[in-house]
Amino acid sequence: MPAKSFYITTAIDYTNAAPHLGHAYEKVLADTLIRWRRLRGIPSYFLTGVDQHGQKVQMAAQREGIEPAAYAARETAKFKALWQTLGLSNDGWAETTHPAHKRVVQGCLAKLHAAGELYKASYTGFYSVRQEQFLTDKERLPDGTFGPEWGQVVELVEENWYFPLAKHRDWLVSLLKTRSLVFPDFRQQELLNAAEKISGDLCISRPKERLSWGIPLPFDENYVTYVWFDALINYISFAGYRPLGESGPEFEGLPDFAALWPADFHIIGKDILIPAHGIYWLIMLHALGFSDDQMPRFLVHGFWNMGGARMSKSTGNTADPAVLAAQYSPEALRYYLMRDIATGQDADFSAERLIARYNADLANDLGNLVNRTLSMANRYRGGVIQPPPPGFPLTAELAAAAAALPGRVAAQMETSQVHAALEAIGEFVTRCNGFIETAAPWKLAKDPAPETAAALDATLGLLADAIRLLAILISPVLPRPAEEILSQLGLDPAAELRFDRAKPGLLPPGHRVGSPRPVFPRIETSPPPA
Ligand code: MSP
Repeated sequence: MPAKSFYITTAIDYTNAAPHLGHAYEKVLADTLIRWRRLRGIPSYFLTGVDQHGQKVQMAAQREGIEPAAYAARETAKFKALWQTLGLSNDGWAETTHPAHKRVVQGCLAKLHAAGELYKASYTGFYSVRQEQFLTDKERLPDGTFGPEWGQVVELVEENWYFPLAKHRDWLVSLLKTRSLVFPDFRQQELLNAAEKISGDLCISRPKERLSWGIPLPFDENYVTYVWFDALINYISFAGYRPLGESGPEFEGLPDFAALWPADFHIIGKDILIPAHGIYWLIMLHALGFSDDQMPRFLVHGFWNMGGARMSKSTGNTADPAVLAAQYSPEALRYYLMRDIATGQDADFSAERLIARYNADLANDLGNLVNRTLSMANRYRGGVIQPPPPGFPLTAELAAAAAALPGRVAAQMETSQVHAALEAIGEFVTRCNGFIETAAPWKLAKDPAPETAAALDATLGLLADAIRLLAILISPVLPRPAEEILSQLGLDPAAELRFDRAKPGLLPPGHRVGSPRPVFPRIETSPPPA
């Protein structure tokens, strides 16, 4: 039996900017999907991390007058702290300055070099001295000149190392024609179109005199590796890949590559499928000798925008997830990020909607359901509840809806449509609250006749069991509240949080529930002015 059935990775984030809402979304999505698999009992591994090298990091450090390593460590700490606040359950953590990663990158470079997959050539182009980068026609103004933001632009000849892409074009095109590697499907089509147009090769080196903050090429000491070449390799280096059979203490604690690879999903945003992942990465793996069966799959998500425009730090058009989590709670943020976007599509962030969603769906609907059920069970039955007899007329309809719910949720979760799973859960919560209104336990409690007492028992028993079911199903998105609800129900969360417990009728007769405490306190503050 393989050690894993599921290996999920997320794009690693830049360290030259504080984490923003888009980063938080991607990690929470990955965390939710992996938690779902764990709930199903599927051995799973979740890797995420930070991309610490490159020109942008070096320049940001220079601006502050500190070493790039110190800068990267400081920014990395911000990401780590936020991921902890948001309750990420990653098994691995990829920092690209890790010595094992460095050796694997160098091993990959050496392997490609030995296989004749790298060549040196000179390039003549326009170079911005201020921004320390070559400019392309994309950077030209309509009149053909380069704008003042680039400072002095000079024509420069530079020798560099190149990785051939064009010679692998036919392989990539036929791979994409025969295998489904990208979700959603239309992104695979976009990638195929781009693959058909591959013409140039990829420059994978930077001369040390202009970029020192990178991994040195093992066969040419005057150069470091281009940051994307380095960063992409994180997916295999932190999964235990050793291109030349490397060993040493720096590899301790890394997983067994054969057991993990290929990743069932790399979760990435739509901006980095083409060319970085869909073209460079697949061709890199192919050139390294990975078979077609060893190609990873991509789950490509959309973007969170603000006011219809792309989030951008320079225009101040961003939302800070650390601030949102502190202001409204990590749970409110997780729930909103999973509920208000369809996986693969874009959405517009709004603090009003975050508050409204949380207050309506969680504080009001689910929170009240838990609170009312436990209060009534305590008030009318001293906390002791009985399962409804099968086919009991009062509860039959809701019992049928409860029985159907896990399948409905699973169908959505297994196609990564978390928002739709939450919608199904929300509908069921609404039905449960409607049922309380119709069954009116407070009226039943006033009548001691045996059939009325049986109706009250059935009502409370069904509701308590429905809450247990809801806690299990919502746990991938809201792990902490799920545990809290199960504890209040008098259950052991560790034993209960399994998909095979997500079926109705598992509360034993005479089960004693605990007393309610607010799980989703209402957000009373209003959002900051737009
Ligand atoms: N460091 C590279 C990835 C290297 S992977 C080997 C990178 N970093 S990033 O910080 O710019 O982006 C990290 C992830 O966040 C990407 O998947 C990106 O698509 C995602 N997002 C960045 N902005 C986003 C939104 N506004 N909305 C949703 N996700 C977005 O790219």
